Amino acid sequence: MQEDVDSIAANVAEWTQTNEEHTDANAERAWAHPGILWGVFAIPEAEIRALPERVDGLDVVELGCGTAYFGSWLARRGARVTGVDPTPAQLATARRMIEQTGIELELVEAPAESVPLPDASFDLAVSEYGASLWADPHRWIPEAARLLRPGGLLVFLTNSTLVYLTAPDSAEEMVGTELLRDQFAMYRMQWAGAQGIEYHLSHGDWIALLRENGFEVEALHEPQPGATAENPSYYDFVDLEWAKKWPAEEIWVARRA
Ligand SMILES: C[S@@+](CC[C@H](N)C(=O)[O-])C[C@H]1O[C@@H](n2cnc3c(N)ncnc32)[C@H](O)[C@@H]1O
Repeated sequence: MQEDVDSIAANVAEWTQTNEEHTDANAERAWAHPGILWGVFAIPEAEIRALPERVDGLDVVELGCGTAYFGSWLARRGARVTGVDPTPAQLATARRMIEQTGIELELVEAPAESVPLPDASFDLAVSEYGASLWADPHRWIPEAARLLRPGGLLVFLTNSTLVYLTAPDSAEEMVGTELLRDQFAMYRMQWAGAQGIEYHLSHGDWIALLRENGFEVEALHEPQPGATAENPSYYDFVDLEWAKKWPAEEIWVARRA
């Protein structure tokens, strides 16, 4: 339990700094995008089809909503979105954008490990590099299961197993083609020089955890950047040529039975 408390505080510090350096300044551009995009190569949802075809009228919770651009794309399509995030600076940017755009979203300051919202109150739970990477999966997956109504859908994006295995220790260097660490030891990871703590699970461990919490896995998407994709401008842990050959990111789709 102590480890979890430490990781939440470390990740709030990490995201307070990232907000100052990048996400606050980038929020207008991200919120304004007309389509729904996935991951560092901005792959359109229309190509992947990880989300329900229609989200209008759905109650949606975004776990680790950050500046809430992802939630805003769903809200613009008629979803009632609640964004949950423990970092006040990220929520302050989200609030500024709500005021600027008039797009309505509810915001709740909390970690995804412990969400102060009622059981069975959402149809869809999403996480785009939010809880999916920064919260302890053994605590946030049960929370997602609790928050979803029976039949509700969980969709989350995170780094691929292969990226975790091939990324050099320093967050400053790009992933390569050599396996650098053990897959069987995957869980909590603090990269050299980083203040934040990430969580990575192997595919087998994700499936076991999802099933233990009453989910059925419907899909594991491994997005491949297309011909017009460009190298990421900020989150540049992987380059385009690498990502055209191997999955850099993965999107899990699981239904609450
Ligand atoms: C890459 S950002 C998410 C971006 C988001 N999809 C958006 O639309 O802006 C990662 C977010 O995860 C949040 N985070 C960190 N620890 C968390 C935790 N324990 N539970 C939920 N979110 C967490 C950070 O505060 C940060 O805002």
